Amino acid sequence: MKVSVIGSGHVGLVTGVCFAEKGHEILCVDHDTEKLAKLKKGESPFYEPGMNELLQKHLASKRLQFSNRTEDAVEYGQAIFICVGTPSTARGKADMTFVEKVAQTIAENLKEYRLVIEKSTVPIKTGERIKRTIARYAKGDAQFDVASNPEFLREGSAIEDTLKPDRVVVGVDSAKAESLLREVYAGFNCPIVVTSVGSAELIKHASNSFLALKITFANWLARLCEASGADVEQVVHGMGLDHRIGKHFLNAGIGYGGSCFPKDVDALAHIAEELRVDASMIRGISDMNKGQLQAFYDKIEKELWVLTDKTIAIWGLAFKPNTDDLREAPALRLIEMLKKAGAKIRAHDPVAMPNTRKLHPDLYFAKDAIDAAHGADALVVCTEWPQYRETDLAKVKAVLRVPIIFDGRNCLDRKRAAELNMRLFGIGKSAVGPA
Ligand SMILES: NC(=O)c1ccc[n+]([C@@H]2O[C@H](COP(=O)([O-])OP(=O)(O)OC[C@H]3O[C@@H](n4cnc5c(N)ncnc54)[C@H](O)[C@@H]3O)[C@@H](O)[C@H]2O)c1
Repeated sequence: MKVSVIGSGHVGLVTGVCFAEKGHEILCVDHDTEKLAKLKKGESPFYEPGMNELLQKHLASKRLQFSNRTEDAVEYGQAIFICVGTPSTARGKADMTFVEKVAQTIAENLKEYRLVIEKSTVPIKTGERIKRTIARYAKGDAQFDVASNPEFLREGSAIEDTLKPDRVVVGVDSAKAESLLREVYAGFNCPIVVTSVGSAELIKHASNSFLALKITFANWLARLCEASGADVEQVVHGMGLDHRIGKHFLNAGIGYGGSCFPKDVDALAHIAEELRVDASMIRGISDMNKGQLQAFYDKIEKELWVLTDKTIAIWGLAFKPNTDDLREAPALRLIEMLKKAGAKIRAHDPVAMPNTRKLHPDLYFAKDAIDAAHGADALVVCTEWPQYRETDLAKVKAVLRVPIIFDGRNCLDRKRAAELNMRLFGIGKSAVGPA
């Protein structure tokens, strides 16, 4: 089946290559010509495991093409997926500028039936707005449907998540739209959940906000544990074995980040407020999350006393392992706070250093984790990359100026740190090592 994808970023590109892998013919469109130039050479503009291989495979198979013209997308595929960004505006409202622009261009170029599918994360009732926009700007009387097909992929495992999803949600209001989406997903071995367009839109915001709530609950428990002497890992383990609760997304840390959770939680709160539904619980998630990083910073400052002229090693810059995405990364916010207090930063991340350099060219970018720790007054772990877990703490101790570690992800070996007489602070746990 011929499918068009508008917006070739983290969602659009993954969608495009995975649909090509399932045998469809894909045209991916983006208005960023620099990005397109890379894509046409078979180079992903962002780090995602397995992406370059699939991209090159399907450029070669000719099942994947690129264009910078949305008009081409309207002509090419009977199904057109909108995958452009929906960033936050003030007070968390989702900015629909890119979506509206795409809808107008689709309208102006519509010559025969098209199914327009929102894959971007959008507020409930966006489908209706897209429908009205296309009807208003259409030059002819070609038929169209608007459907919702929210995306649940996780950066870092996006290809695996897309090829083997837990479920596919399709929000439709016509039999033709449902049948076309079933054809798109025919090669996928998972339940297809068919809903109204509005319910599908809400499923996405509700899912992300619920996951953010679970993380935030674990973070709140961590604070309670620190205040009471309990251990958050023991507490969430005991909770998570209950099937009704589940162990996923119950790990305490320095707060969630990324391009989705912060903006989607704020957007859901905004949607509720607009509909005059009490949003205090959802607003609370966002406020607690910001407080979590502040509490971590306060812990560092309390222990190190004066931060001016102290050297801090940071392990992990991306908002999570296996991505170079820095959007809303807690490490970057922490670095800004530490820099403001006069500290110098020695940073390391396996893949996110080139992107960080563009934002903070003044940092020292280390060649590896041990180099980052060299001469530092403390080491701070912000992202739980597996290689940090595996780094020999004896080697870390040998190069640190002072053997203090703040493990913001509870990923290092506390027993080993204590054996080495290193002072290690975790999240929601008592510190080990000499005070
Ligand atoms: N990143 C994720 O993990 C993830 C997961 C699920 C859902 N989403 C949602 O998917 C949407 C896209 O997110 P993303 O992370 O892929 O964003 P992104 O910024 O990586 O990609 C968006 C792309 O759209 C392009 N674009 C914008 N306006 C355009 C236009 N008018 N014509 C052509 N191209 C245009 C941009 O140049 C960019 O390449 C958002 O709504 C997001 O919330 C993201």
